[in-house]
Amino acid sequence: MTLETFVNLLDFEAPAQEILTQMVYGYYASGADDEITLYENRAAFARLRLRPRVLRGVATRDMRTTLLGREYAAPVMIAPMALQRMAHPDGELAVTRAAAARGIVNVLSTMSSTSLEDVAAVPNAPLWFQLYVYKDRAVVRDMVQRAEAAGYQALVLTVDTPLLGKREADIRNAFSVPAGIKAANLKDTYLSQIDAAQDDSALARYWREILREGGLTWEDVDWLASITKMPLLLKGILRGDDAALAHAHGAQGVIVSNHGGRQLDTSPAAIDVLEEVVQAVDGKVEVLLDGGVRRGTDVLKALALGAKAVLVGRPILWALAVGGEAGVAHALDILLHEIDLNMALCGCRSLADVTRDLVG
Ligand code: FNR
Ligand code: LAC
Repeated sequence: MTLETFVNLLDFEAPAQEILTQMVYGYYASGADDEITLYENRAAFARLRLRPRVLRGVATRDMRTTLLGREYAAPVMIAPMALQRMAHPDGELAVTRAAAARGIVNVLSTMSSTSLEDVAAVPNAPLWFQLYVYKDRAVVRDMVQRAEAAGYQALVLTVDTPLLGKREADIRNAFSVPAGIKAANLKDTYLSQIDAAQDDSALARYWREILREGGLTWEDVDWLASITKMPLLLKGILRGDDAALAHAHGAQGVIVSNHGGRQLDTSPAAIDVLEEVVQAVDGKVEVLLDGGVRRGTDVLKALALGAKAVLVGRPILWALAVGGEAGVAHALDILLHEIDLNMALCGCRSLADVTRDLVG
């Protein structure tokens, strides 16, 4: 199978499923409970219509964007996703190299299977760091300081995961992390090994026993904002009032997200609550979005409704599984090409032309 046979981001999943074990595929693919939100993330994009403008001279297009004071090549980044070496031996390094070559941000997960320092050694890689908070504040402070020292440009605190959602595939498969793979940012074996499942998901146990996400409050956001110079974003916001609180507690950005339908099932599609959040923050913080972004048209819809950028999740894992770095590069090129093409078809020369009235 050559990569040319992959024409869109959806094409990567079935071949990846063939390659991955049932346990790993199940962990990557699944949503919580009945997977209503997982489905809704796609369905909500499909319900929206784009209203193109014509005759605007779109011979050249430019999708560069500025986020938190820095310029990036495209309004697309790679969502933080745990344990990428389960998909391919090159894991996070392959994803970061493919993203870096295109000027795209990779948001590295706290639960990455490659250390944040090894990932930061990829030349010219724009990187953000996603944070989960451990019971021991010293572990958290150390990780934040390491990320800052390694040159990560922003800190993304995920706030929708007080406990892990009920992912039934992981329960049925008694998910555990394969031998030789660990949460590489944690130095302590107790914190880095996630392999003690018997009749449940080992990751769900990890959340119950090791992380202190359930105890996180807005005061922790204040604390985090006070210990880092990196701009802070909160990921997993689905309401305007919470977005306003994020601003009040020192965040400079929010990521509207339902965690790819993996946490609270029947929570709304991110794209359906985006405008509420954008209006609530009134330009005071930057708003990003993830969940179900698969097409260039999805990206344009999110930008028209007020997102500065979007993050892409699972298709990157499928592309990594089928082709390593080249697979991820191909997936990103497909998406960038679709964005560029659909900008032209909408009559947009730059992202400033992607205005609210494009979505009807
Ligand atoms: C995730 N996601 C996630 N989010 C986060 O903040 N930290 C993490 O470690 C992970 N890990 C993770 C693993 C896997 C396998 C998946 C699929 C997702 C959520 C992720 O960042 C993002 O919100 C969604 O995946 C976006 O939805 P799509 O693009 O997958 O539909
Ligand atoms: C997940 C966690 C790790 O969604 O964020 O699996």
